[in-house]
Amino acid sequence: MPLLICHRLLLLLLLLVAASHGDSSDDGAYDTSMCLNQAYTCGDVSISYPFYLAGETKDVKGYANSYCGYPGLGILCDDDKPILQLNGTENYTVKNIDGTSATVSLADPEVVGSSCPKVDHNVTIPPVSWLDFPNSTVDYIFFYLGCYFPDNSGFVKPPAIGNITCQGFDSGYFGRFSFVIPDDKVPLGNWSQACEQIYKVPVLKHDPVDPKDAGWVNDGYGKVLSRGFQLFWDVKKKSPPCMQCEQSNSTGRCAYNQAGGFIGCLCSNGRVSDKECGNSTGNATAGAGTHAQPFYFSNIERREVVIFVSFTSYVGFFLLRLF
Ligand SMILES: *[C@@H]1O[C@H](CO)[C@@H](O)[C@H](O)[C@H]1NC(C)=O
Ligand SMILES: *[C@@H]1O[C@H](CO)[C@@H](O)[C@H](O)[C@H]1NC(C)=O
Ligand SMILES: *[C@@H]1O[C@H](CO)[C@@H](O)[C@H](O)[C@H]1NC(C)=O
Ligand SMILES: *[C@@H]1O[C@H](CO)[C@@H](O)[C@H](O)[C@H]1NC(C)=O
Ligand SMILES: *[C@@H]1O[C@H](CO)[C@@H](O)[C@H](O)[C@H]1NC(C)=O
Ligand SMILES: *[C@@H]1O[C@H](CO)[C@@H](O)[C@H](O)[C@H]1NC(C)=O
Ligand SMILES: *[C@@H]1O[C@H](CO)[C@@H](O)[C@H](O)[C@H]1NC(C)=O
Ligand SMILES: *[C@@H]1O[C@H](CO)[C@@H](O)[C@H](O)[C@H]1NC(C)=O
Ligand SMILES: *[C@@H]1O[C@H](CO)[C@@H](O)[C@H](O)[C@H]1NC(C)=O
Repeated sequence: MPLLICHRLLLLLLLLVAASHGDSSDDGAYDTSMCLNQAYTCGDVSISYPFYLAGETKDVKGYANSYCGYPGLGILCDDDKPILQLNGTENYTVKNIDGTSATVSLADPEVVGSSCPKVDHNVTIPPVSWLDFPNSTVDYIFFYLGCYFPDNSGFVKPPAIGNITCQGFDSGYFGRFSFVIPDDKVPLGNWSQACEQIYKVPVLKHDPVDPKDAGWVNDGYGKVLSRGFQLFWDVKKKSPPCMQCEQSNSTGRCAYNQAGGFIGCLCSNGRVSDKECGNSTGNATAGAGTHAQPFYFSNIERREVVIFVSFTSYVGFFLLRLF
């Protein structure tokens, strides 16, 4: 009976349409080399997700230079030295990564290598980065370089601070004063009027300091600086789809683009999903990853399909009977 065949064909067609709909959370393939599936050792630092290797950025869903990790956590491994570039250019040596406390310990290599360090830039974290200074472990010290206090300026040199005396320290401003002062000891005054350069440097919390103390202005400040500082990555910035991607029954890793936007969930079977991956380790040919199966429906999708198919076949049945 031709009408019945027609009906069957219609049903089959609807099923195929619905099936391709069920597969919509699969957004194609990605290059699995962009994810650190095992910890990568650089020097004596173990690097693993949510960190990623800064050289391993790839196109994901048309977003160039996307990465498998959180914004700001790209690490360069240069000659077995792990480097974090906070602001595109300034290099910091990674001393340690602690995933439990979500902190990374950094040091400025120019400071660590010098007995009388001078800082020549502020530490800036780009807005897109998830890194921030933890108040619990970080203090700040100020460098005031090339300062002078002319009689008529109204800003007399505060007596409670001392010129840096460290042998070999060169401020670059001959005959002028240079100071290094913990932020809570900086005397009031218009410092940008008195000094050529001002830098604010994060350091690990340290014992109280007398900024006039002979030891401090000699090698004491250098010891505090050489211990580096800490940053933490703010997991509160994780979007709900990224949380879903990483949840314990999913093997996914979040991908972000250069603007810091979540792009997708990178599954271990080489597919990109828009939220989660399923719990298996992934075997694309056997369809172990849920989204590798073209006819897989999640519970919600399956319900949609059933409702859709029964509704349309119902309507189709009545239409067919009309003719
Ligand atoms: C680095 O920080 C400076 C401000 O200190 C800013 O002018 C510059 O645009 C930043 N560069 C990048 C690449 O974020
Ligand atoms: C930072 O490190 C990279 C890789 O070693 C190097 O190419 C670059 O010149 C360094 N930048 C600075 C400012 O030292
Ligand atoms: C650190 O403390 C300052 C001032 O108390 C506060 O504004 C800032 O939000 C704190 N930062 C973090 C990361 O807790
Ligand atoms: C402060 O110390 C520097 C050396 O660190 C020296 O060149 C400079 O002359 C000193 N300034 C004064 C005013 O004594
Ligand atoms: C501090 O000095 C600078 C440079 O002379 C000037 O531009 C600025 O207005 C001064 N600030 C205050 C609060 O007086
Ligand atoms: C560094 O930061 C301090 C404090 O925020 C600021 O006063 C100073 O102008 C900054 N220096 C540069 C070179 O941006
Ligand atoms: C993982 O999935 C299994 C079966 O689907 C479920 O019983 C279990 O509660 C899930 N575990 C977590 C931590 O979500
Ligand atoms: C993986 O998920 C399947 C179905 O959702 C479940 O039967 C199985 O117990 C899960 N395995 C683990 C290790 O959670
Ligand atoms: C994937 O599944 C196929 C077919 O079941 C099997 O032969 C193969 O060993 C599996 N590969 C992995 C890595 O589990």
